[in-house]
Amino acid sequence: MSTTPVRPLDLRLRDALDAAAAGISRAPLATSVDRLIGRYREGGAASAPILGNATDVLAYALYRMPATVAACSNMLRHSAFRLPEIQTVTDLGGGTGAAAWAAHDKWPDARITVLDQVGEALQLGRQLRAAEPGVVDFERWQAGSPVPRADLVTVSYVLSELKQSAQQQLVAAAIGAAGRAIAIIEPGTPSGHQRILTARQALLEAGWQVIAPCPHQADCPVRQPDWCHFSARVERSSVHRQLKGGELGHEDEKFSYVVAVPDGADVPERDGDSSRILRHPVKRKGLVELQLCRPDGTASRAVVTKRQGAAYKEARDVRWGDTWPL
Ligand SMILES: C[S@@+](CC[C@H](N)C(=O)[O-])C[C@H]1O[C@@H](n2cnc3c(N)ncnc32)[C@H](O)[C@@H]1O
Repeated sequence: MSTTPVRPLDLRLRDALDAAAAGISRAPLATSVDRLIGRYREGGAASAPILGNATDVLAYALYRMPATVAACSNMLRHSAFRLPEIQTVTDLGGGTGAAAWAAHDKWPDARITVLDQVGEALQLGRQLRAAEPGVVDFERWQAGSPVPRADLVTVSYVLSELKQSAQQQLVAAAIGAAGRAIAIIEPGTPSGHQRILTARQALLEAGWQVIAPCPHQADCPVRQPDWCHFSARVERSSVHRQLKGGELGHEDEKFSYVVAVPDGADVPERDGDSSRILRHPVKRKGLVELQLCRPDGTASRAVVTKRQGAAYKEARDVRWGDTWPL
């Protein structure tokens, strides 16, 4: 008996987005995308909501969702092997459900609840998932309201929307509601990393243990002007190119993140040294250079040469964001 292979996540999302955009004029969507890009360039929390109406919501989903889903998937790929079993997920400020797509891909049997203040975003989120299996609920929610408990609480690209005190409250709410893990992700910019560092500090002060990307609980050794961030490759769809312009068939989404578990949680330990690769590995003839964040809380370069045999073979395959050794 033959079984039909499941289409990859990015292609299923692309189909759902294409269907949502079918028959809708591109001009107002492109105007919304320009406005969103302007908002991101300005940075900081603005007084008006980023998703003002249904056109903004669809524009946001078309322009940002493939990248945010790729970044969330990448974050979970980096950390999920150390997470305990996840059966329930709450996604705070989940919008059209990017983190939910990534979480469902990782834990298909989990019950996922996406919470957001914008009804049109929730409605589009529901529509996009209509052909997908699994339980993903979309519910209206305002930051400051109670957060339903879940094994995993995700906060994806939300902190930058909020004033500093509201960011702290949201992280505290996530800590209060999460039973087994918290995952927070932000744009991979210096200010995004700064917000992640502040959230990381709050997690540590609440007695949580960081499991990714940092292989330690010490202060971040990545100093300005550098910042800790990672990258996810996203193939651009034709509708994406129509809305955002540009020639390239792909883009690289940069993101910063932290994943933590309650102290004492039973997380699978890795053997020996488990550094994090902080940059694209530089591969030259006979050697690979790796920039590493190390379990002792330092960051430094390692050179793996051909003479190291198996380690060298492994180093040829590693990617930015992986642990080292793999
Ligand atoms: C940049 S979007 C990110 C959406 C989604 N998490 C993602 O990764 O694609 C920020 C989301 O945060 C939501 N948000 C901002 N402030 C909020 C608040 N005070 N209460 C609830 N949701 C909020 C917005 O409605 C929006 O959907």
